[in-house]
Amino acid sequence: FSLCLLTCSAQSYAVDDQAGLGRTFDGVGGLSGGGATSRLLVNYAEPYRSQILDYLFKPNFGASLQILKVEIGGDAQTTDGTEPSHMHYENDENYFRGYEWWLMREAKKRNPNITLIGLPWAFPGWIGRGKNWPYDYPDITASYVVSWIIGAKQYHNLEIDYVGIWNERSFNSKYIKLLRYTLDKNGLERVKIIASDNLWEPITLFVLQDRELSEAVDVLGAHYPGTTTVPEALKTGKQLWSSEDYSTFNDDVGGGCWARILNQNYVNGQMTATISWNLVASYYQDLPFGRDGLMTAQEPWSGNYVVESPIWITAHTTQFTQPGWKYLQTVGHLAHGGSYVALTNQRGNLTIVIETMTHDHSVCIRPPLLPYTVTAQRATFCLKGSFASISELQVWHSKFDFKVKKPVYFQKLSPVKVSNGSFTLDLDVDEVYTVTTITTGLKGNYPEPPPSSPFPKIYKDDFKVQHPDFSEAPDFADQTGVFEYFINETDPGPHVYTLRQVVTQRPITWVADADQTISVIGDYKWQNVTVSCDLYMEEENGGGVFVAARVDKGGGSVRSARGIFFWVFADGTYKVTSDLSGQSVLAEGQSGTRANIWNTLTLSVKGDNAFGELNGHVLWKNAVGLVPKNGWAAIGTSSFQLAQFDNFAVQAE
Ligand code: GAL
Repeated sequence: FSLCLLTCSAQSYAVDDQAGLGRTFDGVGGLSGGGATSRLLVNYAEPYRSQILDYLFKPNFGASLQILKVEIGGDAQTTDGTEPSHMHYENDENYFRGYEWWLMREAKKRNPNITLIGLPWAFPGWIGRGKNWPYDYPDITASYVVSWIIGAKQYHNLEIDYVGIWNERSFNSKYIKLLRYTLDKNGLERVKIIASDNLWEPITLFVLQDRELSEAVDVLGAHYPGTTTVPEALKTGKQLWSSEDYSTFNDDVGGGCWARILNQNYVNGQMTATISWNLVASYYQDLPFGRDGLMTAQEPWSGNYVVESPIWITAHTTQFTQPGWKYLQTVGHLAHGGSYVALTNQRGNLTIVIETMTHDHSVCIRPPLLPYTVTAQRATFCLKGSFASISELQVWHSKFDFKVKKPVYFQKLSPVKVSNGSFTLDLDVDEVYTVTTITTGLKGNYPEPPPSSPFPKIYKDDFKVQHPDFSEAPDFADQTGVFEYFINETDPGPHVYTLRQVVTQRPITWVADADQTISVIGDYKWQNVTVSCDLYMEEENGGGVFVAARVDKGGGSVRSARGIFFWVFADGTYKVTSDLSGQSVLAEGQSGTRANIWNTLTLSVKGDNAFGELNGHVLWKNAVGLVPKNGWAAIGTSSFQLAQFDNFAVQAE
């Protein structure tokens, strides 16, 4: 004891529960969606797909995530694409669309205790009865969201633990109360509400001033809080979460960002959960926020994936804690920069996580990080209270290396002996240590996946799948509208199995969706390509469909996408434009096309020249100088309308 006191007079830190404990730890999580961030993951062949899921969810293997948050698809663009709603139309219900159900099942399979959260970004148009607003008919919105939770249980045996309001948009007190009421009425009292997935204010003020609202809300969730909270949020007595954070390119600075905020969200802001946007970067890298996931899996065609440093940084916390553990009150900053947290299961187990990330090696995408310094230091931890009798601790170590690029991630070192109630570590900069009584830590490992390769230059899909595992066809990334496998029971000919655009009304949007629908596919670097597809307009008045090449934008900028768009319309005309909005016309004329028959469009682009064929005959030939030099291939419709696609084919040079 005296020796500890002695060493403690140097730079030492008490780890002590005698004065009571801190807040309850709720976990570290990943967010799939907001939007379409797991789009390409589902198309990986086995065993790679399962390996990726193991790195994310399997306990004592990789990130061993404790929380999975998913988007409740709303048929609208929500950052890297659209995710389908379980109710495209008012009289429609289907709990097998998209991939979030599958992802939640896979996560649960690996970790039955994983916490599940659902949050809408957007809503189908009928929710607002034509207005771009979900709160005019709050009962409709509440029952729509609650259906999703009931469907999760009924069709997938998934118990959703938490539900949110409207991602980074307005909340409405009346709606939140009605959501609580609707949950309870359906026997879902155990489902907790997070509000408001935006800033700490104004939700905190509303909760403080409205008792009924306060009773409805369980967790205050803020986004990108920069590790801090506000005094009023603490005053509510609610659990405080960083319910979305990270969103940083997943190189080692990204890993450093994640290490710093995982600790400091509690140390500075008393936040007891941190959720990464996103879970896994499984979308075309040239869409917005490329590679902002805990790991990268963006090449289902090659099978290549990359376990990036954030996976191992996550493991430093998740493999040695469980939701329900308590933070100690004795957490804080280190004398020469960096931080430490300590957690206990209140039955003798102790986990200490230490990070010494320097400023420049831990900058996150937002908010700005004020300057600070970290230097190498010696730190002594003095174990007191329930922990005084611990004699040995396991040690796990990561060391980023920005100079010679020989980093160490999540390496098990020899256990440290606790002598006279203390142990000492020599901490360098840009390190993470876990010191713990837990002995089950493991650095999971699979053989190297296949090497990276570009999207195949020759690609075909006839959409002929009798019982597809997923509603979307491989590798198509919907940017406005939703494209689903469809079976034409009555088609006499070759078009029984097709892909169909199904969104018929502009959704309640999260960003500015296009007025047209579009799904992109392929390699963003493609320049000279031939894209062809059979198309079928279902709309006689205003019907229009296209194939496109060199499409240069998706995500929130999809409205301003440029490229070469070859359209035919149900009124017997065609058009070639250099933009999705159809304003910059390169050519136009008669085509004789109409609705309810199949037409084959072929678009060939080479250098500054392009030509288009309709049913095998050249319809137009034109120079296309003022178009993007490269981009994806695409299909789509001229408005929110039903249309079908078959025998899609690309040949790239
Ligand atoms: C968040 C949003 C996510 C994603 C992310 C990108 O604000 O909720 O859906 O867009 O930003 O940084």
